[in-house]
Amino acid sequence: TFVVVENCIKCKYTDCVEVCPVDCFHEGPNFLVIDPEECIDCTLCEPECPANAIKAEDDLKEHELQFKPLNAELAKSWPVITERRGIPADAKEWDGKPNKLALLER
Ligand code: SF4
Ligand code: F3S
Repeated sequence: TFVVVENCIKCKYTDCVEVCPVDCFHEGPNFLVIDPEECIDCTLCEPECPANAIKAEDDLKEHELQFKPLNAELAKSWPVITERRGIPADAKEWDGKPNKLALLER
């Protein structure tokens, strides 16, 4: 499965959602997640993210492993998103900032 990792938080460009053939992105207030039970590993979303925040699970670094269960957990309660939203006004400023996990809103 593919996993949304930390740099999506407060960037949330949403370019990823329109290419997913099985609509497995779910939306929270400032982060998106992939439902691992729906993802078919098509790889289409990974290059779409301007923040490089989507990874194949096998490519996750040690500190990113926690995002796998986090995607699975949040996908259960957040609604599906299939259409792009406007980019947050401060998305660029947050791109690449460290320690954004503490800012995740549920
Ligand atoms: Fe959707 Fe394909 Fe990305 Fe999985 S790899 S989330 S199926 S676009
Ligand atoms: Fe997030 Fe990248 Fe999609 S920033 S919303 S994973 S395009």
